[in-house]
Amino acid sequence: MKVIVVKDQAAGGKEGYKVFKDALANGAKVFGLATGSTPITTYKEIVNSDLDFSNCTSINLDEYVGIAPDNEQSYKYFMQSNLFNDKPFKQSYLPDGLASDPEAEVKRYDKIIDDNPIDLQILGLGRNGHIGFNEPGTARDVTTHVVDLTPSTIEANARFFASENDVPKQAFSMGLASIMKSKHLLLEAFGDNKADAVKGMIEGPDTVDCPASILQNHPDVTVIIDEAAASKL
Ligand code: GLP
Repeated sequence: MKVIVVKDQAAGGKEGYKVFKDALANGAKVFGLATGSTPITTYKEIVNSDLDFSNCTSINLDEYVGIAPDNEQSYKYFMQSNLFNDKPFKQSYLPDGLASDPEAEVKRYDKIIDDNPIDLQILGLGRNGHIGFNEPGTARDVTTHVVDLTPSTIEANARFFASENDVPKQAFSMGLASIMKSKHLLLEAFGDNKADAVKGMIEGPDTVDCPASILQNHPDVTVIIDEAAASKL
């Protein structure tokens, strides 16, 4: 793992942007994207740049179950407003939160990933070490699946909703096996509430209790963290 420690999230966005820029320069065509507050500064740098993704494909990590794409809390809406409105891709995929047949949706998404191998996948990090929505205990050989969110994740994500009760209880998520197939992984984490998860990911045992520790087994991972998130290393 290549670990880059920066002062704060704004500086992290600049480093993250460089990773995207280099990937494009090296011919990357498929980008795995993430939501949450973490990648926002990287997306801002991209929006303010001349990078062009109009020949590229994007595939998002996850989406809440039961939420329509035009709902402001959906990950689709997040991607539109934080990136796609300014930097459109030739084709952008997210799981369909309203899919009436979740099994069929999971298969459809796996086929999309198989047909479009991801060159660069950006990841945030949950406080409990989750990546995508792969919560602690998730088996590592799983591809896209429906996840029951843990109370800690529901609580952490409640800040985006009117109340904790409004946070969906389930999500579609790429699995750890899907994530590990990406050629290059870029994980970002900022703030002291990520420090334990960062320590587990980098220095801890490689265990399902900290899903992100699986990244220790990937040959090409860049980790961008701020000083607060690095404070327990
Ligand atoms: C959510 C998302 C993850 C994200 C994590 C951290 O649960 N599914 O993809 O990485 O939260 O969120 P944040 O970046 O807002 O701290």
